[in-house]
Amino acid sequence: YRIDKGEYRHFMAKEIHEQPEVVGRTLAHYVDMANGRVMLPEALPFDFAKLSRVYITACGTAFYAGLVARYWFEQVARLPVEIDVASEARYREAPLEKDGLTLVISQSGETADTLASLRYAKSQGQHTLCVVNVPTSTIARESSVVMPTLAGPEIGVASTKAFSCQLTVLLCLAIAAGRARGTLDAAGERRLVDALIKAPGLMAEALTHEPEIELLARDVAKARDVLYLGRGTSYPMALEGALKLKEISYIHAEGYAAGELKHGPIALIDESVPVIVIAPHDAVFEKTVSNMQEVAARGGRIVLIGDAKGAAEHGLDTMATVTMPDLDATVAPIVYAVPIQLVAYHTAVFMGKDVDQPRNLAKSVTVE
Ligand code: G6P
Repeated sequence: YRIDKGEYRHFMAKEIHEQPEVVGRTLAHYVDMANGRVMLPEALPFDFAKLSRVYITACGTAFYAGLVARYWFEQVARLPVEIDVASEARYREAPLEKDGLTLVISQSGETADTLASLRYAKSQGQHTLCVVNVPTSTIARESSVVMPTLAGPEIGVASTKAFSCQLTVLLCLAIAAGRARGTLDAAGERRLVDALIKAPGLMAEALTHEPEIELLARDVAKARDVLYLGRGTSYPMALEGALKLKEISYIHAEGYAAGELKHGPIALIDESVPVIVIAPHDAVFEKTVSNMQEVAARGGRIVLIGDAKGAAEHGLDTMATVTMPDLDATVAPIVYAVPIQLVAYHTAVFMGKDVDQPRNLAKSVTVE
């Protein structure tokens, strides 16, 4: 790996642009492309069919990858999932079910709280599996199964390419679990694997929207508060969008499940608060449209990150629309990571912030 910025102004920009390549590389490690099947790089010491539950724990962006994975494990493999941030999971002393799997996600593999949660799970006799980007890390050494992300070194403090690679590995795991549990037949697996194989190309297509996102970022930069909304797997993507923006631009941002709008955040909406709605054309799209109408009715300025199919059908009045390629909604989080990261990046750059070294943040939080 070349650890310099190359042609880019910041590591973060370089790492955002590397995603089609590193997601492709990660996929090649997990997928038998010719046969349209997932092939895990390592044999598992447990059987997905016999697992009672998956406990996911992680911090920051890795935690949001875990939140997306919850939907995938539940939908694709009908496997019950519990998830908590590691700083809580480590002290809750939660009773963990027999034949449970604790799945920890970490770019660095050194995050103190995540490591402590892993150790707690081991003390409770859980199976353990980690998704890590640094295969020589402490978390990798202490987990019984290591599923690597092949993102290469990530230098920007705000995680980007590690996140999309984590999502890629997690969907492969959910597919493997679905096959083992008999909830996903060969045709279903092939459909999902085909969608995954298309993801790097769709991410490259998403990157071509950078000039319009750069323009949009000038408006976002004027805001004091920004609200991100999404449903289903787009809900954790809304959380991730808000996290990215606040980390590097220091604008206050909140991610919310779109259906919770009425339970609080709607009170904040006026012309000064951009509302970034993440809404691919999926099973809950129509529900999100109603939420957008509620926002519009209160003078809110909507930025829609969605596909042409969704936006055109409803003639939505938006401040800006980032039109994403049509895709299988299951892989939407992997592809939608790109515009979400670009919005944060360009907003922060426009504001003159140090995006690679944001104030008060560390790349890896190795102390409590
Ligand atoms: C810090 C970083 C984040 C990262 C989180 C978890 O907060 O700034 O980008 O998501 O730690 O780190 P990990 O290495 O465990 O993924």
